[in-house]
Amino acid sequence: MASKADIILGLQWGDEGKGRIVDLYAKDYDVVARFAGGDNAGHSIVVGDRELALRIVPSGVMHPHVELFIGGGAVVNLRTLLEEFDALAAIGVDVSRIKLSDRAHVVFPHHLERDRAAETERSQALGTTGRGIGPAYVDRVARTGVPLADFVRTGDALAARIAPHVVDGVAYIHERLGAGSRVLLEGAQGSLLDVTYGTYPYVTSSHTIAGGACTGLGIGPGAIGRVTGVLKAYCTRVGAGPFPSELHDERGERLRRQGGEFGTVTGRPRRCGWFDAVAARYAVALNGADAAVITKLDVLSGLESIGIVTAYGLGGKTIGFGAANAAGLELEAEYLQGWSEPIGDCRRIGDLPAAARAYVERLRELIGVPIEMVSVGRERSQLAR
Ligand code: IMP
Ligand code: MG
Repeated sequence: MASKADIILGLQWGDEGKGRIVDLYAKDYDVVARFAGGDNAGHSIVVGDRELALRIVPSGVMHPHVELFIGGGAVVNLRTLLEEFDALAAIGVDVSRIKLSDRAHVVFPHHLERDRAAETERSQALGTTGRGIGPAYVDRVARTGVPLADFVRTGDALAARIAPHVVDGVAYIHERLGAGSRVLLEGAQGSLLDVTYGTYPYVTSSHTIAGGACTGLGIGPGAIGRVTGVLKAYCTRVGAGPFPSELHDERGERLRRQGGEFGTVTGRPRRCGWFDAVAARYAVALNGADAAVITKLDVLSGLESIGIVTAYGLGGKTIGFGAANAAGLELEAEYLQGWSEPIGDCRRIGDLPAAARAYVERLRELIGVPIEMVSVGRERSQLAR
């Protein structure tokens, strides 16, 4: 019987900790696929004492039974990809199970140069990752880009290495779904970086939301199953752009320090702030999210009080739902009592200290979908359900 593809994606500005959640869920799936973005993404997976940083290869890679697929909605820097293949092969991972859609486009060195040039030309830089992602998507839309299908026929040395991994991407995903394979789709970046619905123009150049999974793989909406959104227990953002709940004081610095909030790809310090329930509700709607996972709750341990932005005010009106694009927003926030107990050993949400439970419960009320899991530490096992 045909199966539906489930999705895990980020509901903030990226770096919600999706990689780790996908890695956890992947054991129950046969295929983990990406549908958008390129090596601007970066997930780190901690396995025992080893930390693996991945940019293109989907996060389920540490499960030997899982096939990995990069869909047509992605743009691929083949040098980065081959470096990841080499790094994975060096630790004994079989990379022959990584397949790429023939519709994905190639990111060339000139795209990286154009990305940098565009940043210097702008009056206010976007703070892109500098990976050539925007220019590669521009070329696709301008119909001057190079799909992998064409690139593998060029006889280039990179083409020869990549060719065995390139498949008819539409046939691939439909065959898997048709055969009843369990397919998990992994979002890259975050919903608030979506090219249309994010904080434009401070966004990435692809569709990061659930709808992007349909166009990025060539499947219909009926082929989508459950959508799980990942939210960090507070907010972060790298690069420029609106961030209403940002903290510019020592509380923001504390979140950065405690949370290790530095970019996986660029090493840049991430901007940090309170949980933004307005943006989260908006992202739940954009994706039709069925449930949420909260990550990094442990980072908040030890704070006396914890803020949540519950509404934006603009020109005397209250906005409970939106992408925070307008200038001059006023914020409505509430402050909940913190907790001082370490929570890293809690394995059930019910085992959390009362104040931490109250915080999670308040998030649930504000976002309007069930919270099915909370991460309480960096280790694979540190999850409370
Ligand atoms: P680009 O995707 O490199 O064009 O960057 C556009 C914006 O998206 C910048 O603000 C980047 O910092 C941000 N961005 C891109 N990829 C990620 C990601 O994986 N995590 C967080 N932010 C990202
Ligand atoms: Mg990341």
